[in-house]
Amino acid sequence: MNYSVVIPAAGMGKRMKLGYNKILHEVLGKPIIHHTVSIFEKDPDCTEIHLAASKDEIKELEAILSSFKKVKGIYEGGKERQDSIYNALVHVENREFVMVHDGARPLLDSATLNRIKASLKEKDAVICGVPVKSTLKTVVDGVVTETIDRSSTFEVHTPQAFCYNLLMDAYRNAREKNLVVTDDSMMVEALGEKVHVVLSNYNNIKVTTREDLAVLNILLGSE
Ligand code: CTP
Ligand code: MG
Repeated sequence: MNYSVVIPAAGMGKRMKLGYNKILHEVLGKPIIHHTVSIFEKDPDCTEIHLAASKDEIKELEAILSSFKKVKGIYEGGKERQDSIYNALVHVENREFVMVHDGARPLLDSATLNRIKASLKEKDAVICGVPVKSTLKTVVDGVVTETIDRSSTFEVHTPQAFCYNLLMDAYRNAREKNLVVTDDSMMVEALGEKVHVVLSNYNNIKVTTREDLAVLNILLGSE
């Protein structure tokens, strides 16, 4: 099965507190975004890679990713993650299946990617996640208001994979209704479509805070 991938990388990495975009941070001699893109460059089923970047980082990213043949374009991102993804999605040429994968998730493993691809052969919307290990509670003003049923709660990751037309319909609907979302699945859910979940890997973290860098060094180093 062939698919295209859109990789949002236009954030600011504020929670990482590096003073620059976290995806440019070097681990094992390469920027995080280089590690992430190489996963898809190496996957024979991936035909094209499109990225969203901050306007003033496009040139730098082009240089970092210049050895990757599948990178078809790096476009200016938007204010929110969903705006960045949309700006890249419209440039996708192979429009059967599209995956969206965070630039800040360089530890995606091939087993997870294979589970998504296998499921995408039969389903229109497939995401990946892991069962939560901790007990989750809703806390308002320092007081517990609810304990969430752990047995049916997943922490979801990327890639999230869709039939291209379904994802574009979901984006159009979200834009019309000004939906603010934290992942692409939420937009497809808003259309009333079924989103299927396959198992991800607990190591497929989104590098977000400083502690994650230590973990990333260890896990990338052990690959
Ligand atoms: N992203 C993007 N455009 C935005 C915001 C985020 O392309 N306007 C990208 C980030 O570069 C990252 C991914 O979406 O690869 C996941 O977002 P997140 O982890 O929140 O990254 P940042 O927004 O950069 O980090 P922070 O929220 O801490 O500022
Ligand atoms: Mg963010």
